[in-house]
Amino acid sequence: MRRGLALFLLVNVAIIFFLVGQVWTLLSLLVVDGSQDAISRAELPAPNSSLIDGRRQLIPKIIHQTYKNETIPEVWKEAQRSCIELHPDYEYKLWTDDSAREFIVAEYPWFLDTWDGYPFNIQRADAIRYFILSHFGGIYIDLDDGCNRRLDPLLSYSAWLRRTLPTGISNDAMGSVPQHPFFLRVIDSLSKYNRSWFLPYITVMASTGPLFLSVMWRHYNNDDPVGDDRIRILFPDEYKDHVWSFFVHNVGNSWHEKDVQFIMWLRSNWLLVTIFGFVIAGFAFSGSYWLYRRWCLGGYGSGPGSPRKRYHPNSRSFLRRLPILRYFSKGDRAGSYELLDRRDV
Ligand SMILES: *[C@@H]1O[C@H](CO)[C@@H](O)[C@H](O)[C@H]1NC(C)=O
Ligand SMILES: *[C@@H]1O[C@H](CO)[C@@H](O)[C@H](O)[C@H]1NC(C)=O
Repeated sequence: MRRGLALFLLVNVAIIFFLVGQVWTLLSLLVVDGSQDAISRAELPAPNSSLIDGRRQLIPKIIHQTYKNETIPEVWKEAQRSCIELHPDYEYKLWTDDSAREFIVAEYPWFLDTWDGYPFNIQRADAIRYFILSHFGGIYIDLDDGCNRRLDPLLSYSAWLRRTLPTGISNDAMGSVPQHPFFLRVIDSLSKYNRSWFLPYITVMASTGPLFLSVMWRHYNNDDPVGDDRIRILFPDEYKDHVWSFFVHNVGNSWHEKDVQFIMWLRSNWLLVTIFGFVIAGFAFSGSYWLYRRWCLGGYGSGPGSPRKRYHPNSRSFLRRLPILRYFSKGDRAGSYELLDRRDV
């Protein structure tokens, strides 16, 4: 029996370690801010600064955008035009559903099954960004983001991502050299993360979207990349809303705001989420303890001292423990038991 208890506790500890291990990356995303990799405003030249020409250029001058076909809706035309007009010397590539699939067929045939199997179109729109950055390099920009100034200073880093507040990183604007180890790992991991999480929103977030990318980023940084393997992080001030920022956010797709809201909600209800977790864990523990008692401490009809037998509902000692039956048992014992037995059936 002692050995059984030790086994029970061991199994529970193992399960707890397993569960904490599963969500560890998510928990750590709430505290890791990426500031050690921040592209600081001090190192970024102002829009027309003479310092810009002296910087090295690593990322090729290509701007990638995606849409389902070549008919860009009116709301995004202005944003698209702002990026193209500021960068006449950059190559501009618009990836449509058709050209994206052709590209996967030609260059990454091993991914085609996952690609075609994605239940949501937005998952393909997410995935193609990682493949084109990994393949051609360049800068990917969401169609709802317009350009506020030339992106040249951002070409000096081998790879950069954009930080969202309060936590995580986004995939709405990113830059990379071709074959950067981070994006190679990202495209390699997509199939593994292609799981359904019941809710469409969470499925998209966790399989291809910002949550997926944030988790990949955390894992990648665990190896402490140095030099050009490092990923630099663009913080909100440098991203938008200021004259020196690179992008302006236009109306349209509120996808990214929503996921920030969701994580905001998780964070502001952190205590609630934690308590909920403990309640679930409590239930799991009681449930497994119940199973342990039932299966390891003997079931029906085992030895005379077994607790199972003592508390068996049909045994007289069990019935006598209930106060109301003690009252009845003062009178005609056999009769009252029978009465109650019948009523219970
Ligand atoms: C930078 O120069 C361009 C053209 O030379 C000009 O149109 C733009 O207004 C300047 N930007 C700033 C912030 O001074
Ligand atoms: C692109 O898609 C839109 C909306 O589905 C449709 O109205 C338009 O005709 C399409 N354009 C082309 C060139 O197929």
